[in-house]
Amino acid sequence: MKKVVLAYSGGLDTSCIIPWLKERDYDVIACIGDVGQGENFEAIKERAVKSGASKAYCLNLQKEFIEDYVFPALKAGALYEGKYVLACALSRPVIAKHQVLIAQKEKAVGLVHGCTGKGNDQVRFEVTYRLMDPSLEVIAPVRGWEFKTREEEMDYLASKGIKIAVTKKKPYSIDTNVYGRAIECGILEDPWQEPPEDIYAMTKSPNKTPSKPTYVEIEFEQGTPKKINGKSYAPVELIQVLNQMGGDNGVGRMDMIENRLVGIKSRETYENPAGTILHMAIRDLESLVLDRESLHFKEIFSQKYAEIIYYGLWLTPLKSQLDAYFKKYHETTTGVVRLKLFKGTCTVVGRKSKFSRYNQKMATYGKGDVFDQSLADGFIKLWTIPYMKR
Ligand code: ARG
Repeated sequence: MKKVVLAYSGGLDTSCIIPWLKERDYDVIACIGDVGQGENFEAIKERAVKSGASKAYCLNLQKEFIEDYVFPALKAGALYEGKYVLACALSRPVIAKHQVLIAQKEKAVGLVHGCTGKGNDQVRFEVTYRLMDPSLEVIAPVRGWEFKTREEEMDYLASKGIKIAVTKKKPYSIDTNVYGRAIECGILEDPWQEPPEDIYAMTKSPNKTPSKPTYVEIEFEQGTPKKINGKSYAPVELIQVLNQMGGDNGVGRMDMIENRLVGIKSRETYENPAGTILHMAIRDLESLVLDRESLHFKEIFSQKYAEIIYYGLWLTPLKSQLDAYFKKYHETTTGVVRLKLFKGTCTVVGRKSKFSRYNQKMATYGKGDVFDQSLADGFIKLWTIPYMKR
């Protein structure tokens, strides 16, 4: 029997994959990556074994996910198509990485995932597999197998004598981790329909949030968030605290038409309270401590970095080159940003830094102005020269 390692979620698809592969003479090891799905992982491990896995690993990847994937993306200002914080996209390379490591440890010959052939995730998994270990065979059963519906998959499990509790068909397809949620399918497939309230789990409806704003101060050190309201937090806890604060105020909902890598447009809805707050905060702090050219130039790199993540290219040279750039860029991104969370909105209301380039004496329209306005006349004349007719 050929040994393979499956990225197992505990859902119906990946549960079916196990007996399906065993029928084809594979020995399946389940690999469960805990990136903060908030599931009962002991139950998932048990389900993997009940479905026929010879072994089940559950790895807590939350810390690595936030420190080595989420924070670099935050420093890069990476928002796909200017909006999506990439919570799901960032989790794929870390799960795939550990799947490969287990495959190598177990001397397996292949890697398996349960992604469909229409999405981005298959690309993110497989590019990571191939870049880490091209000798491993890649199997993606869901792309080509015989089952067309959930009912057929459940009948198949029953026919194999596998009794696992599968959750009732939910109206949506959901991906969750500690950094956020993505919700698609069902009624959301009609881009004209407003997302119904029942898709949300991390954020309260702004109708039901406090009538007084919540203020929060976030302290950054060289682009890494370290403290909330003066208190230090480890990376995962920091994200959890901001998710709670943002979610309680209805902050972090997003509804967009997104361009997938495979060419189709899809309607996507997201909840990312912490991501929304942090991206807004860091960007604002940058505007205080960096000069105009640095700020404007960086935008191109932010967009590129977002595409790298979205397109599954985490392990490529350009990604690490950009990390070096952003490390330099953030040498002075140290300071505090004060934000107001209120009724679904997140607004920066204050910022300070020992590296501030803001000079009140230069900027003021009041007393103590040191800006020499007499220089403006000559400046504008020179500024215009290149465009004059002769
Ligand atoms: N469209 C997003 C992405 O490609 C999220 C996909 C999440 N999957 C889901 N089953 N909702 O990163």
